[in-house]
Amino acid sequence: MKPIITADAITKAYRTSDSEATTSVLKGASLTVQHGEVVALMGPSGAGKSTLLHILATLETFDSGSLTYDIDDRTIDLASAGTSTVTSLRHSSIGVVFQFHHLLPEFTAHENVMMPGLLRGDREADVAQCADELLASVGMMHRRDHMPRELSGGEQQRVAIARALVNRPSVLFADEPTGNLDQEHAEAVADLLVGLSTRNGTACVIATHSVELAQRAHRIVRMVDGRCVEDLRG
Ligand SMILES: Nc1ncnc2c1ncn2[C@@H]1O[C@H](COP(=O)(O)OP(=O)(O)O)[C@@H](O)[C@H]1O
Ligand SMILES: [Mg+2]
Repeated sequence: MKPIITADAITKAYRTSDSEATTSVLKGASLTVQHGEVVALMGPSGAGKSTLLHILATLETFDSGSLTYDIDDRTIDLASAGTSTVTSLRHSSIGVVFQFHHLLPEFTAHENVMMPGLLRGDREADVAQCADELLASVGMMHRRDHMPRELSGGEQQRVAIARALVNRPSVLFADEPTGNLDQEHAEAVADLLVGLSTRNGTACVIATHSVELAQRAHRIVRMVDGRCVEDLRG
Protein backbone atom coordinates (compact mmCIF):
# COMPACT_ATOMS: atom_id res chain seq x y z
CA MET A 1 0.00 0.00 0.00
CA LYS A 2 1.19 3.53 -0.72
CA PRO A 3 1.98 5.73 2.28
CA ILE A 4 -1.01 7.75 3.47
CA ILE A 5 1.17 10.89 3.45
CA THR A 6 4.13 11.70 1.25
CA ALA A 7 5.68 15.09 1.90
CA ASP A 8 8.70 15.95 -0.20
CA ALA A 9 11.05 18.91 0.21
CA ILE A 10 8.48 21.21 1.80
CA THR A 11 9.57 24.79 2.30
CA LYS A 12 7.86 27.55 4.23
CA ALA A 13 8.96 31.07 5.05
CA TYR A 14 7.16 33.71 7.08
CA ARG A 15 7.39 37.39 6.26
CA THR A 16 8.31 39.42 9.29
CA SER A 17 5.60 42.02 9.80
CA ASP A 18 7.77 45.14 10.00
CA SER A 19 10.23 44.42 7.19
CA GLU A 20 10.72 42.83 3.81
CA ALA A 21 12.80 40.08 5.38
CA THR A 22 11.47 36.54 5.56
CA THR A 23 12.18 33.86 8.11
CA SER A 24 12.76 30.50 6.53
CA VAL A 25 11.13 27.93 8.83
CA LEU A 26 10.96 24.75 6.73
CA LYS A 27 13.94 24.23 4.44
CA GLY A 28 13.04 21.10 2.52
CA ALA A 29 11.23 18.88 5.03
CA SER A 30 10.45 15.39 3.71
CA LEU A 31 8.37 12.81 5.55
CA THR A 32 6.34 9.75 4.63
CA VAL A 33 3.74 8.23 6.93
CA GLN A 34 2.35 4.75 6.34
CA HIS A 35 -1.30 3.84 6.97
CA GLY A 36 -1.63 3.07 10.68
CA GLU A 37 1.87 4.23 11.51
CA VAL A 38 2.63 6.22 14.67
CA VAL A 39 5.41 8.75 14.05
CA ALA A 40 6.89 10.90 16.80
CA LEU A 41 8.27 14.24 15.67
CA MET A 42 10.95 15.44 18.06
CA GLY A 43 13.53 18.19 18.02
CA PRO A 44 14.29 21.50 19.70
CA SER A 45 11.80 24.29 20.12
CA GLY A 46 11.71 26.42 16.97
CA ALA A 47 12.80 23.56 14.68
CA GLY A 48 9.52 23.77 12.76
CA LYS A 49 7.48 20.88 14.21
CA SER A 50 4.25 22.80 14.66
CA THR A 51 4.59 24.45 11.26
CA LEU A 52 5.07 21.08 9.56
CA LEU A 53 2.11 19.55 11.42
CA HIS A 54 -0.15 22.41 10.36
CA ILE A 55 0.94 22.04 6.73
CA LEU A 56 0.48 18.26 6.75
CA ALA A 57 -2.96 18.74 8.32
CA THR A 58 -3.88 21.11 5.44
CA LEU A 59 -4.37 24.00 7.86
CA GLU A 60 -1.56 26.03 6.37
CA THR A 61 -0.06 26.40 2.88
CA PHE A 62 3.53 25.73 1.86
CA ASP A 63 5.83 27.59 -0.54
CA SER A 64 7.41 24.74 -2.52
CA GLY A 65 7.74 20.97 -2.47
CA SER A 66 4.91 18.47 -2.67
CA LEU A 67 2.35 16.93 -0.34
CA THR A 68 0.27 13.92 -1.35
CA TYR A 69 -2.42 11.95 0.46
CA ASP A 70 -3.30 8.42 -0.60
CA ILE A 71 -6.60 7.32 0.92
CA ASP A 72 -9.15 4.79 -0.37
CA ASP A 73 -7.38 4.39 -3.73
CA ARG A 74 -7.45 8.14 -4.26
CA THR A 75 -4.38 10.27 -4.63
CA ILE A 76 -4.76 13.90 -3.63
CA ASP A 77 -2.00 16.32 -4.56
CA LEU A 78 -2.39 19.19 -2.11
CA ALA A 79 -0.49 21.67 -4.27
CA SER A 80 -3.08 21.39 -7.06
CA ALA A 81 -6.25 20.22 -5.28
CA GLY A 82 -9.22 22.59 -5.18
CA THR A 83 -10.64 24.02 -1.97
CA SER A 84 -13.60 21.64 -1.81
CA THR A 85 -11.35 18.59 -2.21
CA VAL A 86 -9.08 19.81 0.56
CA THR A 87 -12.02 20.68 2.84
CA SER A 88 -13.59 17.28 2.35
CA LEU A 89 -10.25 15.54 2.97
CA ARG A 90 -9.86 17.57 6.17
CA HIS A 91 -13.37 16.78 7.45
CA SER A 92 -13.42 13.12 6.58
CA SER A 93 -9.86 11.93 7.14
CA ILE A 94 -7.88 14.29 9.36
CA GLY A 95 -8.03 14.87 13.11
CA VAL A 96 -6.01 17.55 14.88
CA VAL A 97 -5.11 18.11 18.51
CA PHE A 98 -3.56 21.54 18.89
CA GLN A 99 -0.94 22.56 21.38
CA PHE A 100 -3.53 24.92 22.83
CA HIS A 101 -6.77 23.08 22.77
CA HIS A 102 -9.28 25.63 21.37
CA LEU A 103 -12.44 24.11 22.84
CA LEU A 104 -15.52 26.18 22.08
CA PRO A 105 -16.21 28.01 25.38
CA GLU A 106 -20.01 28.11 25.11
CA PHE A 107 -20.44 24.35 24.65
CA THR A 108 -20.10 21.47 27.11
CA ALA A 109 -17.35 18.87 26.89
CA HIS A 110 -19.79 16.42 25.28
CA GLU A 111 -21.01 19.00 22.76
CA ASN A 112 -17.43 19.96 21.89
CA VAL A 113 -16.58 16.33 21.13
CA MET A 114 -19.73 15.98 19.01
CA MET A 115 -19.05 19.10 16.95
CA PRO A 116 -16.92 17.66 14.08
CA GLY A 117 -19.44 14.84 13.57
CA LEU A 118 -22.37 17.26 13.46
CA LEU A 119 -20.48 19.57 11.07
CA ARG A 120 -19.92 16.60 8.79
CA GLY A 121 -23.65 15.86 8.85
CA ASP A 122 -23.60 12.53 10.70
CA ARG A 123 -26.72 11.37 12.58
CA GLU A 124 -26.91 13.16 15.95
CA ALA A 125 -27.68 10.03 17.99
CA ASP A 126 -24.70 8.19 16.50
CA VAL A 127 -22.40 11.14 17.11
CA ALA A 128 -23.65 11.48 20.70
CA GLN A 129 -22.92 7.85 21.44
CA CYS A 130 -19.50 7.98 19.81
CA ALA A 131 -18.71 11.11 21.85
CA ASP A 132 -19.65 9.29 25.05
CA GLU A 133 -17.40 6.36 24.19
CA LEU A 134 -14.50 8.70 23.44
CA LEU A 135 -15.03 10.74 26.62
CA ALA A 136 -14.95 7.45 28.55
CA SER A 137 -11.76 6.37 26.80
CA VAL A 138 -9.97 9.57 27.85
CA GLY A 139 -11.38 9.31 31.38
CA MET A 140 -13.66 12.33 31.12
CA MET A 141 -17.20 10.96 31.42
CA HIS A 142 -17.53 12.51 34.90
CA ARG A 143 -17.07 15.95 33.33
CA ARG A 144 -19.30 15.28 30.32
CA ASP A 145 -21.66 18.21 30.90
CA HIS A 146 -19.10 20.70 32.18
CA MET A 147 -18.13 23.84 30.30
CA PRO A 148 -14.47 24.22 29.23
CA ARG A 149 -13.88 26.99 31.82
CA GLU A 150 -14.85 24.48 34.54
CA LEU A 151 -12.10 22.06 33.44
CA SER A 152 -8.38 22.06 34.19
CA GLY A 153 -5.90 22.48 31.32
CA GLY A 154 -5.18 18.76 31.28
CA GLU A 155 -8.89 17.90 31.27
CA GLN A 156 -9.49 20.29 28.38
CA GLN A 157 -6.68 18.61 26.49
CA ARG A 158 -8.26 15.18 26.97
CA VAL A 159 -11.59 16.52 25.68
CA ALA A 160 -9.76 17.99 22.66
CA ILE A 161 -8.27 14.57 21.92
CA ALA A 162 -11.69 12.95 22.07
CA ARG A 163 -13.00 15.64 19.72
CA ALA A 164 -10.19 14.97 17.22
CA LEU A 165 -11.20 11.31 17.09
CA VAL A 166 -14.97 11.61 16.70
CA ASN A 167 -14.91 11.43 12.90
CA ARG A 168 -12.64 8.36 13.02
CA PRO A 169 -9.87 10.06 11.02
CA SER A 170 -7.37 8.12 8.92
CA VAL A 171 -4.64 10.30 10.33
CA LEU A 172 -4.40 12.20 13.58
CA PHE A 173 -1.99 15.08 14.14
CA ALA A 174 -1.18 15.96 17.73
CA ASP A 175 1.01 18.87 18.79
CA GLU A 176 2.48 18.27 22.26
CA PRO A 177 -0.61 16.30 23.35
CA THR A 178 0.84 15.42 26.75
CA GLY A 179 2.63 18.75 27.31
CA ASN A 180 0.39 19.86 30.16
CA LEU A 181 -0.69 16.50 31.57
CA ASP A 182 0.52 14.76 34.71
CA GLN A 183 2.24 11.38 34.45
CA GLU A 184 -0.90 9.29 34.86
CA HIS A 185 -2.94 11.17 32.28
CA ALA A 186 0.02 11.43 29.91
CA GLU A 187 0.24 7.64 29.93
CA ALA A 188 -3.50 7.33 29.33
CA VAL A 189 -3.22 9.64 26.33
CA ALA A 190 -0.23 7.71 24.99
CA ASP A 191 -2.19 4.46 25.36
CA LEU A 192 -5.10 6.02 23.51
CA LEU A 193 -3.02 7.34 20.62
CA VAL A 194 -0.96 4.19 20.14
CA GLY A 195 -3.98 1.95 20.74
CA LEU A 196 -5.84 3.83 18.02
CA SER A 197 -3.38 2.87 15.38
CA THR A 198 -3.48 -0.75 16.50
CA ARG A 199 -7.28 -0.97 16.75
CA ASN A 200 -8.43 1.24 13.90
CA GLY A 201 -5.39 1.58 11.66
CA THR A 202 -5.26 5.31 12.36
CA ALA A 203 -1.93 6.90 11.50
CA CYS A 204 -0.65 9.40 14.08
CA VAL A 205 1.95 12.12 13.76
CA ILE A 206 2.80 13.43 17.20
CA ALA A 207 5.08 16.37 17.91
CA THR A 208 6.42 15.83 21.39
CA HIS A 209 9.24 16.56 23.79
CA SER A 210 8.28 13.50 25.84
CA VAL A 211 10.77 10.66 25.48
CA GLU A 212 8.24 8.29 27.08
CA LEU A 213 5.62 9.11 24.46
CA ALA A 214 8.12 9.04 21.58
CA GLN A 215 9.33 5.62 22.59
CA ARG A 216 5.79 4.29 22.17
CA ALA A 217 5.80 5.40 18.50
CA HIS A 218 6.76 3.08 15.65
CA ARG A 219 9.27 5.59 14.42
CA ILE A 220 10.95 8.74 15.67
CA VAL A 221 11.72 11.54 13.24
CA ARG A 222 13.85 14.40 14.45
CA MET A 223 13.41 17.92 13.12
CA VAL A 224 16.59 19.91 12.94
CA ASP A 225 16.56 23.40 11.48
CA GLY A 226 13.54 22.95 9.25
CA ARG A 227 14.36 19.48 7.96
CA CYS A 228 13.40 15.95 9.03
CA VAL A 229 16.11 13.54 10.04
CA GLU A 230 15.30 9.89 10.59
CA ASP A 231 16.21 8.70 14.06
CA LEU A 232 18.00 5.38 13.73
CA ARG A 233 17.21 3.46 16.86
CA GLY A 234 18.63 0.04 17.50
N1 LIG B 1 3.09 32.83 11.94
C1 LIG B 1 4.42 32.95 12.07
N2 LIG B 1 5.06 34.09 11.69
C2 LIG B 1 6.40 34.22 11.81
N3 LIG B 1 7.21 33.27 12.30
C3 LIG B 1 6.64 32.12 12.70
C4 LIG B 1 5.23 31.89 12.62
N4 LIG B 1 4.96 30.64 13.08
C5 LIG B 1 6.16 30.13 13.45
N5 LIG B 1 7.16 30.99 13.22
C6 LIG B 1 8.60 30.76 13.50
O1 LIG B 1 8.96 29.53 12.91
C7 LIG B 1 9.88 28.85 13.72
C8 LIG B 1 9.39 27.42 13.95
O2 LIG B 1 8.22 27.46 14.73
P1 LIG B 1 7.40 26.15 15.12
O3 LIG B 1 6.99 25.44 13.90
O4 LIG B 1 6.34 26.58 16.06
O5 LIG B 1 8.54 25.28 15.85
P2 LIG B 1 8.40 24.12 16.95
O6 LIG B 1 7.00 23.66 16.97
O7 LIG B 1 9.38 23.09 16.51
O8 LIG B 1 8.82 24.74 18.25
C9 LIG B 1 10.03 29.64 15.00
O9 LIG B 1 11.25 30.34 14.91
C10 LIG B 1 8.86 30.58 14.98
O10 LIG B 1 9.18 31.79 15.57
MG1 LIG C 1 5.55 23.63 18.44
